[in-house]
Amino acid sequence: MTNKEALKYAYDKLKETDEPKEAARFLLKQIVKKDLSFILAYPETKLSLGEERKFKRWVKKRSKHLPVWYITGYEHFCGLDFKVNQDVLIPRPETEILVEKVLSHTCHPELVSGSPQLQDRILKQVQDDGKRGSVASGKGLTIADIGTGSGAIGISLAKNLPKAKVYLTDVSKDALKVARKNAKLNKVKNVKILQGNLLEPLPQKVDLIVANLPYVPSEDMSSLSLDILHHEPRIALEGGGDGLDLYREFFGKAPEKIKKGGKMFVEIGERQGEKMVKIVKNVFPDAKVTWEKDWAGLDRFVIVELGE
Ligand SMILES: C[S@@+](CC[C@H](N)C(=O)[O-])C[C@H]1O[C@@H](n2cnc3c(N)ncnc32)[C@H](O)[C@@H]1O
Repeated sequence: MTNKEALKYAYDKLKETDEPKEAARFLLKQIVKKDLSFILAYPETKLSLGEERKFKRWVKKRSKHLPVWYITGYEHFCGLDFKVNQDVLIPRPETEILVEKVLSHTCHPELVSGSPQLQDRILKQVQDDGKRGSVASGKGLTIADIGTGSGAIGISLAKNLPKAKVYLTDVSKDALKVARKNAKLNKVKNVKILQGNLLEPLPQKVDLIVANLPYVPSEDMSSLSLDILHHEPRIALEGGGDGLDLYREFFGKAPEKIKKGGKMFVEIGERQGEKMVKIVKNVFPDAKVTWEKDWAGLDRFVIVELGE
């Protein structure tokens, strides 16, 4: 089978799935370990028998709507590689902005490791925010990533703030197995992995809390794409009646776990900004609470800055 035949085979098998062309090209790139320009420039190059068998196996999985990242077992996030399986949510590109926001509040962008694009975006974020934090390496900082899943947020922060102490917590033991592997893969030593409900496992008050908790309203679950609905863990998605049940509980308990002058950064759903600000103001009436949008112009983040 040649590159051209492989793509044709996959387009045909995947025509009932979302974005068949992108998926076929993505899977073939991973199999032959070449970039797309090479594959398209050399359509007659043959796959080895082993590559052909593996490609057909992967296409079959994709034809059953398994997301491509679960098939390859990896996702790229903030310039790092993360292992993923069906015990964890696939980290989304918009969640990278959440990491950028935390970094822009805490450090000098010149010192941020990761991709040049990430550094550029953080530099821009710092300029937009009109401020520059003072804690360049995270020295003395304690951070918690609540509902860490694959560990994408917390491990990216730990990598960029090597002197900070970062707690990664999740209620799911299986998700934490993946987070542990990712901490090892990315050689971060400044993380501590803890299992339990929301903020309960934290042994101390922390300076910064980041969370991307499940926020899909229960009645919207059935309208999610088949890829998400049938393959990503429900516990990582469903947030109850209006989607904000876990965040209500989280902010209700937050005063016991956040230091004076601390900051919290959370990801939310596309129409939840106004409601979330009310939930936060109920608990922290004097805090500065801002609600921000993502690249698509949808409500996506709430940032809470407590007074001293
Ligand atoms: C939307 S996923 C986010 C995963 C990861 N932080 C990310 O951004 O890719 C939500 C995560 O919260 C976890 N979770 C759900 N309920 C929880 C609870 N009560 N306490 C702690 N974690 C919870 C899920 O297991 C899941 O890993």
